[in-house]
Amino acid sequence: MPPTRCALVGLPGSGKSTVGRQLARRLQLPLVDLDQRLEEVLGTSIRQYFEECGEDAFRDREQALLAELAAEPGPMVLSTGGGAVLREANRSALRQGFGQVFYLRATPEDLWRRLRHDQTRPLLQVDNPLARLRELHRVRDPLYREAANYVIETGRPTVHTLVNMVAMQLEMAGAVPVRT
Ligand code: S3P
Repeated sequence: MPPTRCALVGLPGSGKSTVGRQLARRLQLPLVDLDQRLEEVLGTSIRQYFEECGEDAFRDREQALLAELAAEPGPMVLSTGGGAVLREANRSALRQGFGQVFYLRATPEDLWRRLRHDQTRPLLQVDNPLARLRELHRVRDPLYREAANYVIETGRPTVHTLVNMVAMQLEMAGAVPVRT
């Protein structure tokens, strides 16, 4: 069986980091959180980097790191940042470098409920974060779908159930051994 390589995409607050962490633990696979790795490489927080260098510079660094990870062999659960699908180069790196890509889908309203007190996401530090989330959803929903092989609706299920759903899809795809 080739090494299991899967990635999680979706809007901020969709659960990529949490589901990724628990999935990696359950499947005993190395976890890479793209945003966390970027903060290590950048030597500062993403919010700070956005403020100092702007979004384009951030996207360049994000693209470079994603290309590196996609080319790295070996098993991996990758959780991405919400904007990682914006560039075609990244969508193609996700498809080619990670056999199974999951879109954790949520409504803007659900995301807003989860994120309304969050101060770490630069794109949501605006007067009307719900309107911003609606706009991000409108623009990005097709891009997440293009990058992903699976769409997982995150509205009702608990994190535990979501992890089970992803793990089950991986089993059915023959990407991990079936749990008995
Ligand atoms: C972004 C989402 C963030 C982070 C950066 C940009 C986006 O990651 O990469 O702030 O464009 O949606 P999360 O999805 O983990 O919040």
